[in-house]
Amino acid sequence: MKVMLINGSPHEKGCTYTALCEVAGELEKAGVETEIFQVGQQPIRGCVSCGFCKKNKGNKCVFGNDPVNAALEKAKDMDGFIFGSPVHYASASGMMTSFLDRFFYAGTVLKYKPGASVVSCRRGGATAAFDQLNKYFTISSMPVVSSQYWNMVHGNTPEEVRQDLEGLQTMRTLGRNMAWLLKSIEAGKQAGVSLPEPEEPQITNFIR
Ligand SMILES: Cc1cc2nc3c(=O)[nH]c(=O)nc-3n(C[C@H](O)[C@H](O)[C@H](O)COP(=O)(O)O)c2cc1C
Repeated sequence: MKVMLINGSPHEKGCTYTALCEVAGELEKAGVETEIFQVGQQPIRGCVSCGFCKKNKGNKCVFGNDPVNAALEKAKDMDGFIFGSPVHYASASGMMTSFLDRFFYAGTVLKYKPGASVVSCRRGGATAAFDQLNKYFTISSMPVVSSQYWNMVHGNTPEEVRQDLEGLQTMRTLGRNMAWLLKSIEAGKQAGVSLPEPEEPQITNFIR
């Protein structure tokens, strides 16, 4: 069992990373492998709605020169996902938003795999960013893993985040809850519980 933790911060070892490490620690303790994937600092294009990914259904975006396709390739072998972002103007970072728009629009290997998001802010806007990130899961048939509080830490530096004891506890609880859900899904599979039968998609734009 493996979980991919995507860090949508330009700071490789910053506050978001500190929160993700806390989640990863609990997953590892529960016997779940983890991999932290850095979105990094290079420019990430937004989705240009070209339709390439829909035509090809190949879990691939038309733009191959940034980390989106590398993440989609890795996602094939993952059982769960945690998306971490710093709060920028009460939203996820611009890079993370561009990354996730394309990751989810092109992604064909995410359905039914549990996901959770984690945000880091100095002071405000955390719940707005958290809500934004959770919407990617709930439009993608992904079970959302919860914790004892909304998944946020507060701080401008990793040292400050380490002082947010409640935030860190929320991260650890999230890690244990995700491990429990992954094991429950695996036990269900072993017991013969099959995935839900999908319907033919209906696309109605506004009223018809
Ligand atoms: C462009 C920008 C916008 C920010 N907007 C907010 C904000 O709306 N609310 C807030 O509390 N902190 C804001 N911050 C501070 C970061 O969210 C905070 O320092 C965060 O923990 C940094 O995480 P990181 O080290 O993983 O990048 C902003 C920082 C930047 C660079």
